Amino acid sequence: MQDNPLTDKVALITGGARRIGREIARRLHREGMRIMIHYRASRDDANVLLSELNTSRSDSAASVQGDLANAAAPEQILLETVHTFGRLDALINNASTFYPTPIKDATEHQWEDLMAINLKAPFFLSQAAASLLDEYQGCIVNIVDIYGRRPLKSHPIYCTAKAGLIMLTRAMARDLAPSVRVNAVAPGAILWPENDADEVSQQRIIARTPLKRMGTPAEIAAAVVFLVRDASFSSGQVIAVDGGRGVVP
Ligand SMILES: NC(=O)c1ccc[n+]([C@@H]2O[C@H](COP(=O)([O-])OP(=O)(O)OC[C@H]3O[C@@H](n4cnc5c(N)ncnc54)[C@H](OP(=O)(O)O)[C@@H]3O)[C@@H](O)[C@H]2O)c1
Repeated sequence: MQDNPLTDKVALITGGARRIGREIARRLHREGMRIMIHYRASRDDANVLLSELNTSRSDSAASVQGDLANAAAPEQILLETVHTFGRLDALINNASTFYPTPIKDATEHQWEDLMAINLKAPFFLSQAAASLLDEYQGCIVNIVDIYGRRPLKSHPIYCTAKAGLIMLTRAMARDLAPSVRVNAVAPGAILWPENDADEVSQQRIIARTPLKRMGTPAEIAAAVVFLVRDASFSSGQVIAVDGGRGVVP
């Protein structure tokens, strides 16, 4: 463990209590990191994960609540992280909202929500974290989406927000260099949205995926570990973890 460059370093994962964020938290913890799990509503899930991580290594995980629609949240989440662990080495911007917004009936509230969680919050979390990451030669990993590069039908606002997060990855890679690396992971189909039971379109997506299956949260977490631990000469990059979906029209 002592040879592991991540031992005792600190990662903050937004939306880290469930689904893909939880797997990223588990995997970075397994690599030796101490983990700050951010959540908004999933307090019970956060507590279960905390207990799991702290049982395997004491005082290695903590949690912080915050609604990223609230402009004061990024600063508070960072303050809590520093107060608990005293440093920050990796910020993983994973929290997201995702739902259709067909152009004819999309609302301003939907625009504000999708932009706030998928784009504005990662910017202001990164801003709040920048001096700490600079001090510890840390990194940022933004979880984007293959639909930030090609539009998903009826999701124009979500796709635009993720496209913005891809540009933000590149812009911050330039502006936060040379101390801080900034990269992104673009998942394809990994976990269906919890309110989406449309099996026909799910099967259609898998049929158009060259590897003919969905990905797993563990495969996203593996790409995050690569960017945090191994990609020491990479910044401004987006790694697609999409079963090859990006090469098919
Ligand atoms: N699932 C996929 O197949 C897939 C595909 C492409 C890209 N992605 C991207 O991968 C990442 C993880 O995907 P996922 O499906 O695991 O995400 P998810 O379940 O849709 O959302 C992750 C977390 O975001 C948090 N969140 C939502 N609104 C918030 C708010 N206002 N303030 C603070 N936190 C908020 C929620 O935390 P609480 O539960 O605590 O409220 C939620 O658990 C996302 O960035 C997503 O866009 C996922």
